[in-house]
Amino acid sequence: MTFERNILCIGAGYVGGPTMAMIAYRCPRYRVTVVDVNREKIDQWNSDDLPIYEPGLDEIVRAVRGKNLFFSTDIPKAIEENDIIFVSVNTPTKNYGVGAGMAADLQFWEKTAREILKYSKSPKIVIEKSTLPVKTALAMERILNSNHHGIAFDVLSNPEFLAEGTAVRDLTNPDRVLIGSEETERGLCARNILVEIYANWVPRERILTSNIWSSELSKLVSNAFLAQRISSINAISALCEKTDADITEVSRAVGTDSRIGPKFLNSSIGFGGSCFKKDILNLVYLCRHYGLTEVADYWEGVLKINDYQQDRFVLTMIDAMFNTLSGKKICVWGFAFKADTGDTRESPAIRITKRLVEENALVIVSDPKALKNARADLRGLEDRVSFVEDPMEAVKGCHALCVLTEWDLYRHQDFEAVYASMAKPSFLFDGRNILDHGKCFRIGFNVYPIGKPPMTHFQ
Ligand code: UDX
Ligand code: UDX
Repeated sequence: MTFERNILCIGAGYVGGPTMAMIAYRCPRYRVTVVDVNREKIDQWNSDDLPIYEPGLDEIVRAVRGKNLFFSTDIPKAIEENDIIFVSVNTPTKNYGVGAGMAADLQFWEKTAREILKYSKSPKIVIEKSTLPVKTALAMERILNSNHHGIAFDVLSNPEFLAEGTAVRDLTNPDRVLIGSEETERGLCARNILVEIYANWVPRERILTSNIWSSELSKLVSNAFLAQRISSINAISALCEKTDADITEVSRAVGTDSRIGPKFLNSSIGFGGSCFKKDILNLVYLCRHYGLTEVADYWEGVLKINDYQQDRFVLTMIDAMFNTLSGKKICVWGFAFKADTGDTRESPAIRITKRLVEENALVIVSDPKALKNARADLRGLEDRVSFVEDPMEAVKGCHALCVLTEWDLYRHQDFEAVYASMAKPSFLFDGRNILDHGKCFRIGFNVYPIGKPPMTHFQ
């Protein structure tokens, strides 16, 4: 069968894999190939055990893999054969040299651009899917168009807004798709080709176009605004704990103002995930680069509150448990950075568990999907940390239980049985405010929610 378009994605991660699966699923007339340098990951994409857990993804991949969706490690061949190339390689925070700890590390992106240049024998549209600092597309275009064999490359920016755990839903029904291009005749022509791909299933009024730098910046700013809401509500949770206010009531009252809206106002132990911290650091670096010190400081505050919220959680535990955690067994329910994913990148649970270990606690970590990653994150701490998938088994004999990820499964445990199996007095620290605190208190727990007065049996 001949396909109408041949589309490639370089980088088979959390973004590249699901996004390409959705394009293949929605557009049977296109042939979609996903390549990655990591052979093990590609083997997993080709197996029944996909490398990432994402509700609904297995079904989609099963429906199209081998028909119009292919996973491979043969990058040169794939570049040669495809004329539309998405790049979704990782762009972590730089940990060396100029901008260390702040700027994005573009080495994988640039290496990929050079590979595209090396193996291309015909014109290509190259699409930035990775989140990148503003003006990266320009640099990429310069590298790509530095060739001497007359092949033209157009670079587009098409940031991905999917959230993990809801990737399939977000890709099926996105709030918007953003496509940035140069506003030249060629740039607009390339942009239209990408618009037509998305228009196979996304209503046209939700496909926004802009100049390329606006598109790059919009991605950083969207993530910064989302993270800022969480830091805002978390900052207020600290105030609630000092007064008689209840953060859930405050969020509801604030969020019902239609100008503010109710989403992303759940107070928690703080945000995690691969994007928020990295993108804010990137934004801060950009502002400092342009001498905008006040603007940089403003956004940096979002990260400071996020660290503060995690440290505050541990301090509350120490304070509640008679100022020592030494030798105490603490069960952690949930290690993923959010529910419905096995991803633990920047998960607040990492920092919190490490802090508990520093206090000489013995930590038992439980999670339905993230234990493999948790083991890697906590490598070297095996003498103080153990891993038990079954939450009821994990909590046995513990002095305290902390809920760090909002998995639905935790809401439905038998808390009478949990209480009966724990050391007394039993402490419950709900870092996600998902449990029925009144009920747990009546069972006998000393309950410490986020942003609400604690409920204790002590005089
Ligand atoms: C990535 C970026 O980190 C993020 O900035 C952007 O917004 C979307 O793309 P994600 O898909 O979560 O996010 O990253 P990851 O799961 O780490 O996947 C990246 C993949 O690229 C990995 O599988 C890695 O093996 C692959 N890769 C990396 C290459 O194929 N070639 C390289 O040179 C480098
Ligand atoms: C985010 C953006 O939402 C997405 O648009 C972008 O493409 C990638 O980054 P993701 O990191 O996958 O997605 O998850 P998200 O749902 O945004 O949650 C991020 C963190 O914020 C999680 O740790 C979550 O638990 C936390 N969070 C979210 C809160 O603490 N409170 C809330 O009200 C919402």
